[in-house]
Amino acid sequence: MVTGAGGGIGRDFALAMAAAGARVLVNDIGTSVKGEGRDAGPAQKVADEIGKNAVANTDSVADWESANRIIQAAVDAFGRIDVVVNNAGILRDRFFFNMSVEEWRAVIDVHLNGSFYVSRAAATHFKAQQSGCYVHMTSTSGLVGNLGQANYSAAKLGIAALSKSIALDMARYNVRSNCIAPFAWSRMIGSIPTETEDQKARVEKLKAMETAKIAPLAVYLASEDAHDVSGQIFAVRANEIFLMSQSRPLRSVHRSEGWTPDSIRTQAIPALRAHFYPLERSQDVFSWDPL
Ligand code: NAI
Repeated sequence: MVTGAGGGIGRDFALAMAAAGARVLVNDIGTSVKGEGRDAGPAQKVADEIGKNAVANTDSVADWESANRIIQAAVDAFGRIDVVVNNAGILRDRFFFNMSVEEWRAVIDVHLNGSFYVSRAAATHFKAQQSGCYVHMTSTSGLVGNLGQANYSAAKLGIAALSKSIALDMARYNVRSNCIAPFAWSRMIGSIPTETEDQKARVEKLKAMETAKIAPLAVYLASEDAHDVSGQIFAVRANEIFLMSQSRPLRSVHRSEGWTPDSIRTQAIPALRAHFYPLERSQDVFSWDPL
């Protein structure tokens, strides 16, 4: 079952899973990048492209009841569910100081709440059958940072924690959970301006980040071959695959008599400062062109 599979990265997941022999529930509400409007066309089109091994579904991930209907549709169609790919997404970019509660909620609802609802609905089946696999889409906007995306970054880093929690809680049932942070030239990033020659050249390089390049890792993670891969965060950009770090203590300082604000100022912070992270965005860390 792939959410948001009517276009972009999700469509390639659905096609690649089907090519690898899976029967696929193609879920998508067919909405705009901002999550406005609905169209049953995209999910049906991808299901038609796959043929008899696919069924389309247009229930939203962003609501508990409808997320349950997505999983039920897969079980009704195929008799079981083995893989959940949480890929559906929208953007409502705005600088934090201007972000409305509506913009915050809409993004949290689709990404973080949606990933929980869909995962939780499938968990009942995974637990009963003692097997199953989750693949969630996170983003370097959350893992590293980006401007104007407080809602999206918070949701995406939340998804990384959700995935780790599922991996821990469900290991006893032989259920795995991993994240992919994709970089792909989809409509989601297709709105970058192309007025100057520099901008045009940059966009040409970004187009190398084809959506189909993300799918092989998702298919691998969904397969039996990945039986010992869980709780990890990968990134994929064109022909590069990265294993992303996860938060660990970098350095500690200790005073047996305890700390005061003043000794923190004079001792702790100077000792720790060498390890501070700069205020970097994703593009500062992934500073070279896609390969
Ligand atoms: P996209 O906009 O092409 O595809 C997202 C799909 O999700 C759309 O077809 C949309 O109709 C569907 N969708 C939206 N709300 C839904 C809902 N409530 N229920 C069901 N379906 C819904 O975007 P793209 O680029 O393919 O993104 C896929 C995933 O990858 C998203 O989670 C996105 O945040 C993530 N991602 C993408 C990056 C990129 O470079 N394209 C970078 C980092 C993360």
